[in-house]
Amino acid sequence: MKQFLSANDADDPLQLAREAIEIKKDPYEFSHLGENKVLGLIFFNPSLRTRMSMVRAAYNLGMKVITLNVTSDSWQLETEEGAVMDKGHAEHVREAAAVMGSYCDILGVRSFPGLRSREEDYAEKLITSFRNYGNVPLINMESASLHPLQSLADLMTIKEFAGNGKPKIVLTWAPHVKSLPQSVANSFAQWIIASNMDLTITHPEEMELSSEFTAGATIEYDQEKAFQSADFIYVKNWSSYKDYGKLHKDSWWMVDERKLALTNNARLMHCLPVRRNVVITDGALDSNHSIVIRQAENRIYSAQVVLKKILEAL
Ligand code: CP
Repeated sequence: MKQFLSANDADDPLQLAREAIEIKKDPYEFSHLGENKVLGLIFFNPSLRTRMSMVRAAYNLGMKVITLNVTSDSWQLETEEGAVMDKGHAEHVREAAAVMGSYCDILGVRSFPGLRSREEDYAEKLITSFRNYGNVPLINMESASLHPLQSLADLMTIKEFAGNGKPKIVLTWAPHVKSLPQSVANSFAQWIIASNMDLTITHPEEMELSSEFTAGATIEYDQEKAFQSADFIYVKNWSSYKDYGKLHKDSWWMVDERKLALTNNARLMHCLPVRRNVVITDGALDSNHSIVIRQAENRIYSAQVVLKKILEAL
């Protein structure tokens, strides 16, 4: 594997999830693969799971890790080509990415969207710059529009519970207090559809995601109807794609135990962090339905299978 920016970089997304399940059984089997190799983790935004799971996955493979929180610890980066840099940005991404690539064998970048301009965010300028100027394989640790490491862990988790069955998977919009990216929802849809699995997406009518990612899914505006006979309920808020970045408020969509009772004893999923009693109730999160901690644990193995594939191709 030369890069991991989206589901398109996996030859077979489902097979990659199966390989992650195998790695979990013996996490140190390939502990010499990363000897004398350095992973650079570049964060433009906060993280708990992505940061710690990437470090743990790298350690399991024998790699060393350098982490940089750009916003608090480094120079602010300019991304415009031809910019006259007479304002706040002290360094251009052309030099910064090239320097980071010279220090590391693999780079991971996290860069959230501004949620002001859809065109700008979905152009993925920062990720593209690191790919073009970093000169080493690049891993998307959540970009403006996608979060593939999360989705691979989600797919792996679904496979662990569903085995070879054909589950009904439902992605539901849920309320939030601030505008959030569409990246987790876009990516989840992309990976589930690419795996030829049955996906229903339910959300208020004005909260459509980009059809680039949802083509092939069933869209159902009635959340309770969507929940009927569901085996997996994946809960996530996202801000408007159409009225780009707008916060939609409708607390009725919060997921609770009453709604879970409509399902086929569904497993409850969320990428975390989750705001309790805003997105999902305490009762639902603390119930036997919830597999959110397993999902987060599996972030180690989704990261590890990706790092392993990249190391093998270096
Ligand atoms: N789900 C996820 O990516 O978590 P972090 O934002 O804490 O990394």
